[in-house]
Amino acid sequence: MTQFVLDFVDLEQWRLAGHGASRNLFENRMYPDILIKTVKPSAQTAGGNRKVKSRIYFFKKWRRFGAYMVFRRELEEYLNLARKFGGERKKLPIAKIFGFVQTSQGLGMIVERVASRDGSLAPTLRRIIQERRFEQKHLDALNEFFREATRFHIVLMDCNLGNFVWSDAQDGDPRVICVDGTGEKSPVGLYATSNLLNRIKLRRYQARLHGQIRKQAETAGINVSSLIGMST
Ligand SMILES: Nc1ncnc2c1ncn2[C@@H]1O[C@H](COP(=O)(O)OP(=O)(O)O)[C@@H](O)[C@H]1O
Ligand SMILES: [Mg+2]
Repeated sequence: MTQFVLDFVDLEQWRLAGHGASRNLFENRMYPDILIKTVKPSAQTAGGNRKVKSRIYFFKKWRRFGAYMVFRRELEEYLNLARKFGGERKKLPIAKIFGFVQTSQGLGMIVERVASRDGSLAPTLRRIIQERRFEQKHLDALNEFFREATRFHIVLMDCNLGNFVWSDAQDGDPRVICVDGTGEKSPVGLYATSNLLNRIKLRRYQARLHGQIRKQAETAGINVSSLIGMST
């Protein structure tokens, strides 16, 4: 009997490539273009419900998609973006989603592995600042991300420098790609519905990120005040 390659993935055979507050990401040298993202065991209960720390939002743990809500939000955002380029080969400002697979650690989302030219995982803007390497080209690429996000009506819900990675892969110009934090938090889909409100929100997020860049650059001991294109 033949078995689908992606019928089930035993993550024991994969390498933990990193993690955020709520998800783990796994890589495998055999498949350099993809990552598998799973929800951390510490972020879900045995039944796949979300672990909710806040007392005010205690009801969230009963939501239908439970701990997988984050996948759903990102998928919706990706579908909305992808439909605009039907049949076109297009580089997207957010990491592509290739699908889902059952793994030894729960459902895994298969996503584009954004890499640097040397094949290593693309660094976040936060890391680039910590390493004192942040310069004009990084800011330009971040601002270009926001131009595209505005043009394509991408909804963001989480704005921090750890969600934006710098990709200088060989094909094409270097870019900033958003790997996390896309989608709508508002239950009525306010920003997905209103282009105007979303534009305002994106502008606010961009300014907030510029603020984070200034602050973290100061901590790292580099000067970013001479960069052109920072909001004031
Ligand atoms: N598609 C990707 N390509 C490259 N690196 C990624 C990708 N997705 C996530 N990362 C890295 O992994 C970290 C954590 O992933 P993330 O999706 O942000 O997890 P969480 O949802 O827990 O915040 C990111 O900050 C980034 O450094
Ligand atoms: Mg994150």
